[in-house]
This record gives sequence, C-alpha cells and structure tokens, in this order.
Amino acid sequence: MRHKRRAAKNFFKTPKGLLTIILAVWTWRVEKRRWLRMLALAALGTVIAQGILGGLTVLFFLPAPISSAHAAVAQTFFCIAVCIAVFTGRRWMQEQPRTEFDTRRPTLFTLTLLSIFVLYVQLLLGAMFRHHGMSWWPHVVHAGVVAVVLAWTAIRAISVYSEVEAIKRPAIMMLGLMVAQLCLGFLAFITRVMWGKDAAQPELPMVVATVVHVAVGALLLATTVVLAIQVWRHVPVAFEERVPGQNPVAA
Ligand code: HEM
Repeated sequence: MRHKRRAAKNFFKTPKGLLTIILAVWTWRVEKRRWLRMLALAALGTVIAQGILGGLTVLFFLPAPISSAHAAVAQTFFCIAVCIAVFTGRRWMQEQPRTEFDTRRPTLFTLTLLSIFVLYVQLLLGAMFRHHGMSWWPHVVHAGVVAVVLAWTAIRAISVYSEVEAIKRPAIMMLGLMVAQLCLGFLAFITRVMWGKDAAQPELPMVVATVVHVAVGALLLATTVVLAIQVWRHVPVAFEERVPGQNPVAA
C-alpha cells in the first residue's frame, strides 16, 4: 500500500508525469481531431505504464525483461510526443499532401513499418544486454539487419521521392542518425564491454558513449516513425493493393 502511495506521489512530482497530464487535458479541451485527443491520452497511458514498470523494476530488484519493457515504453512515449508535435505543427496543418501512388513492391510504407519493427527489436536486445539478461552479440549482429533495412528504406525514399520535402528530410536524417548510431555503438562496445568489464565503477568515457548511444537510438526511432507518417500521408499504397483485381486509380 505504501509502495502504491509513493508511486502515485512520484508520478505527480516528476515533470514528465505532470507535463503529460497538462498536455492531455489541454489537447482534450482545444483539439477538434478526435484521434489526436486519443493520442494525447495514449501518451498519458505510456507515462502511467512507465511508472508501474519502474515500480516493479525496483520491487523485483531489476529483472531484465521488466527493465527492458521499461526502456521500450520510454521510447514509445517519446515517439508519441514527437508525433503530437508533428500533427499540431503549422506545416502539417497548412501543407497540401501531394498524393502520389506507390506501385513498387515492397511499398515504401511497408519498408518504413519494417524499419520501425527492426528498431524495436534492436532496442529490446540492447536493453536486455544492458540489464544483464542477454549477451552482447544478438544486439551487435542485429545491428547489421537494422543497417540493411534502414539503408534500403532511406535510399528508396530519397531516390524516388526526392521532390517531396516532407519525405526527403526525415529520410536523410534517418540515414545520418543510423550511421552515427553504428559508430556510437562501437564506442559503447569498446568502453563498456572491452574496457569497462572489470571497472569498479562506471568511468566517464563509458557513461558518455552509452548515454549518447541510447539518446541517438531514441532520436532514430522517432525519426523513422515520422518518416512512416509522412509516407502514409504523401504516398498512399496503390488502390489496387486495397481492392484486389482493380487497376490503381487516384482517389
Ligand atoms: C543502428 C543500430 C543500433 C541501434 C538502433 C542501437 C540501439 C541501442 C539502444 C536503444 C540501446 C539501449 C537500450 C536501453 O534503453 O537500455 C543500446 C545499447 C547498447 N548498444 Fe546499441 N544500437 C545499435 C548498434 C550497436 C552496435 C553496432 C553496437 C556495438 C558494436 C552497439 C552496442 C551497444 C552496447 C554496448 C549497449 C549497452 C550500453 C549500456 O550498457 O548502456 N549498438 N543500443
């Protein structure tokens, strides 16, 4: 009971919890788009889930699966917050979406969803390693899969839709962040696994490398989500894909 009361108190004390409540109430009051109001509620839901997982992590002495779920929910919250910023931004409200049908296979939208999926897997593998639930090698091997899928997605987006700014911008950013993240991953590996294995306490190079690696990981995931949203808006899948047997036609 005391634990529950303390968790509730901490929820209101943290700026994240309080600010998300303000965001949800504000959005609910002023926003006309129902789905966006639901998204603000979802943001609040992730903060509550985050609080519960945080409490369970402490209660059960840092079990790797719960700590990893905590890491995944944290990044999901960040992605939802970035999406809300995109959906309420001036550019989103004023710009005319240029709907151009995508007839290639796999579609760019499918590639963006695949990118989000492989990034979540990478996040969970990294978190499992970080919390001593798994060896480092699945995370490092899967980084190769992430690099291939994200490079494929970015190159397709940049080469085919170079004139659609809303797609080109996040695609270039995603590619740049991915290259930076691979380099930071190697730095984190050297400082944490090779040098830091027997360290009595975390040393500064290791702290900097791992913290920046986690932060850039979150930015990379959010950028990929923004790319998926912009592709969904500007390049819908061909009509044929939705109604089998009919030619692609403009809506
Ligand atoms: C684009 C590819 C990569 C992504 C998206 C990525 C993402 C992440 C994330 C999100 C975490 C932290 C998980 C958590 O919240 O606990 C993490 C941890 C880690 N990653 Fe990566 N990573 C990538 C590539 C690599 C590579 C190539 C290496 C090594 C060669 C690497 C080494 C590590 C290490 C050592 C940790 C643990 C850091 C710690 O102890 O705090 N990563 N990674």
